[in-house]
Amino acid sequence: MLRITEPELMTELEQVNIYAETDFSDSDGKMVSRLVELINESKKNLQRESLLIDLGCGPGNITQRLASHWPEINVVGIDGSIEMLRIARQRQFSSKNKSSLRGLSYKEGNISSLSKTRLNLSKFADVVVSNSFIHHVHDFNFFLKSLKAISKKGTLYFHRDLRRPLSSNQALDLQKKHLPNAHPIMIRDFIASLKAAFTRDEVVNYLEKSSWQNYKVIEVEDRYLDIIGIN
Ligand SMILES: C[S@@+](CC[C@H](N)C(=O)[O-])C[C@H]1O[C@@H](n2cnc3c(N)ncnc32)[C@H](O)[C@@H]1O
Repeated sequence: MLRITEPELMTELEQVNIYAETDFSDSDGKMVSRLVELINESKKNLQRESLLIDLGCGPGNITQRLASHWPEINVVGIDGSIEMLRIARQRQFSSKNKSSLRGLSYKEGNISSLSKTRLNLSKFADVVVSNSFIHHVHDFNFFLKSLKAISKKGTLYFHRDLRRPLSSNQALDLQKKHLPNAHPIMIRDFIASLKAAFTRDEVVNYLEKSSWQNYKVIEVEDRYLDIIGIN
C-alpha cells in the first residue's frame, strides 16, 4: 500500500479532545518501560542536569510519565498544536503529583524545523523520544535534521510509531482487533495513521542515505516500529 499522508498537526478541537480522553495507558506504560530498559542498557546516567525531549508530545501522555519517573531531570515536551499543549499543561497543573513534575515543561514548535536556539533550550538533549508521532511527518529528512539539531554526541533516541500495513484491509483488521469500540473519530484517525505510517524498509533507507549509524529499526508486535539509536 502506498503511503497516504495526514495533516502533521492535530489541531481540530474535537479530534484533540477525543485523543486526550482515549485510554492509551497500556501502550504508554510499555513505551516508558522499554525506554527505562534502553537507558539501563546504554549505561546512561540521567542526572539533575540531564535533558529528555519528547517530540510530538500531544496531551502529554508519555511526557508526564517520563517526568514523574525521573523527577530530578528536565523533561521537555514539544508539539506544534497549541490545542494539545493546552491540555498537557492543564494536566500538569491539576496533577495530584505536581511536585514530581517539577522538571516538566512544554514548548510549542514545529518539529520539521527545530533548533536548540529556536526552542530557547540551554543545552542539547541527552535523550530524545517520540511516541505515535513519526507517521505525521511529511518529510522524514527534515525530521532527521531536527533531531541532529537538538542532539549531542551520545544522545539516545527511542521513537516508537505505527508501521504501515500491506493493504487497506490489513489496516481495517488492525483497527477491529485493537480499537474495536472507540469513538468514530478515533477509529478514523487510527486507520489514517496506519496508512500514513512508514515501513521498516523506508525508514532504513532514509537513515542509510543520511549516513546515520548506530541505529536499529525493529518491527514490534503486529503494528509498531521502533527506531533506536545513539548519536
Ligand atoms: C498522535 S499524537 C501523539 C501524542 C503523544 N506523543 C502520545 O503518545 O500520546 C501526534 C502529535 O504530534 C504532533 N505533531 C505532528 N507533526 C508535528 C510537527 N511537525 N511539529 C510539531 N508537532 C507535530 C501533533 O500535533 C500531535 O499532537
